[in-house]
Amino acid sequence: MKILYAASEAVPFAKTGGLADVAGSLPKALVEEGVDCRVVLPLYDSIQGLLRQNLHFLCHFQVSVSWRSKYCGVFESKIGNVTYYLIDNEYYFKRQNYYGHYDDAERFAFFARAVLEMLPHIGFQPDIIHANDWQTALTPVYLAAYYRSNPFFAGIRSVFTVHNVEYQGKYGYEIYNDVIGLPHYFFHVMDYDDCVNFMKGAVVCSDEVTTVSPSYSYELRYPYFSFGLDRIFNMYGYKMRGILNGISNEDYNPSTDKCLFANYTPEAPGKKAVNKQGLQKMLNLPEDPSAMIVGYIGRLVQAKGIELLRYVLEELLQHHVQLVVLGTGDWKYENFFSEMQWQYPGKLCARITFSNDLARKIYAGADTLLMPSRSEPCGLSQLIALRYGTIPIVHQIGGLGDSISDCGDGKGNGFTFKQFNAHDMIGAISRAEGCFTHKDDWDVLIQRAMTCDFSWHHSVQSYKALYENVLH
Ligand code: GLC
Repeated sequence: MKILYAASEAVPFAKTGGLADVAGSLPKALVEEGVDCRVVLPLYDSIQGLLRQNLHFLCHFQVSVSWRSKYCGVFESKIGNVTYYLIDNEYYFKRQNYYGHYDDAERFAFFARAVLEMLPHIGFQPDIIHANDWQTALTPVYLAAYYRSNPFFAGIRSVFTVHNVEYQGKYGYEIYNDVIGLPHYFFHVMDYDDCVNFMKGAVVCSDEVTTVSPSYSYELRYPYFSFGLDRIFNMYGYKMRGILNGISNEDYNPSTDKCLFANYTPEAPGKKAVNKQGLQKMLNLPEDPSAMIVGYIGRLVQAKGIELLRYVLEELLQHHVQLVVLGTGDWKYENFFSEMQWQYPGKLCARITFSNDLARKIYAGADTLLMPSRSEPCGLSQLIALRYGTIPIVHQIGGLGDSISDCGDGKGNGFTFKQFNAHDMIGAISRAEGCFTHKDDWDVLIQRAMTCDFSWHHSVQSYKALYENVLH
């Protein structure tokens, strides 16, 4: 089976969010299961050093976008047993940021078209093209609009995955003709709520649509979660299903992770305490093993439920806890946490930055990881936290609910709260504190968390079954 996985970011080349982690680890896991899965992404300017040196030029050709033909180069890189194709056009991709440019619609229309155009040139004829999020959403649309009569493309099927419905690629009608260049009879495919909507087009044109957790595929049918697209998800519900993301067990491994103060295993998690102490020392927090460290790692934005934390922060800091926040986001939250840490030294430490090294030290050194997300397509941090024996405290929603169950029943791997409400969140944190003071119970919980298996192992079987289903 041959799959082309198209994404706008993939580890190790480019990352702004969870999509990059998935695009960097799912194809690898598929290849290990015998699927010939290759990845295609833009060649951004930020791809430098060894990664750039290891690119091999394959070919160049012209791609039509905005009714003009543009240069497109293709480079190849092999990392382990995965082949990556990088699409080169310096006008579109030699820029500081990946997204947020005035001509994003044109840039990603170019990319989506290039993904198809390159195939005959590189001699790779996939059975399925798997596109992800709005940036590659036009690939299944172009495939349906322009390529069906071409024998090379006639049998190629498409799968589209929604990682986050908040970003849909919505533009004014003027781009329809001038920029994306689709035939007039495709207008109804792209038209939605007075906009041209890339994600809607992909949902209509793809053979299957997936979400990154089973719950999210149902939640998207409700206005509360869908950012306006619920009518479409209801209409096309018959071809939607959710498959929970996994994480790379190799990459996230507390027994080998070089960023940690000390390595440990599920059989002997004792050294987790060394990481806690190291973290406290590094962040100028009192080195007190009896204070429960609550970690928050992620973007400081509304969707992540950060306003719940803001609302009850001072109440929470009265508890015997230390709160460690790592991430960047909206300035109002960044300012709030920076400010509050001066008022609560020894209780709150906020690092308004992104640091892989510090993130890993928190995964290992914290006792709990808080994820109060308002909605969460999957969430990867809770899976990483489990692997490091750090107990997730989560809003029971989307992928959080699909991966974390409350340990109140003696079987769960975390603490959950059902209503999106600050005091319900405090309630879950208090229950965690209650358990934390009983060392034996807490050790059992750590062990249980660390032995959960959220590697790609299970999900890859689901993807294989999905691909087979699409092809038959
Ligand atoms: C998006 C979602 C996140 C998910 C990730 C990877 O970033 O917000 O929940 O884990 O995509 O699929």
